[in-house]
Amino acid sequence: DGNWVDVLPADQLPEDDVIGVVAAGRDVALYAVGDEIYATDNTCTHGQARLCDGFLEGYEIECPLHQGKFDVRNGNPLCQPVTDALRSYPVRVEGGRVYLQLD
Ligand code: FES
Repeated sequence: DGNWVDVLPADQLPEDDVIGVVAAGRDVALYAVGDEIYATDNTCTHGQARLCDGFLEGYEIECPLHQGKFDVRNGNPLCQPVTDALRSYPVRVEGGRVYLQLD
């Protein structure tokens, strides 16, 4: 069932915030929303901005450059100027570690 990559200890996740991690050479944004964890590509689909530098509110991440928003649960664009979805990745926590399925 695909390739799960060990990314970081679960206790290094922020609370209700976003961080950037590099997983298998890929720049990924990890979002902690309550007890849930989501992952998407970290680079905005609209330009060269990193979503880990943006503002997370509930399930919405706001890009720091032009304030486009995405749903962190599936990467879907929510408002202009973003129109293309972010790629999102399955997340699992096991043995105190966070794993991402990257393919
Ligand atoms: Fe993200 Fe423009 S670069 S909204």
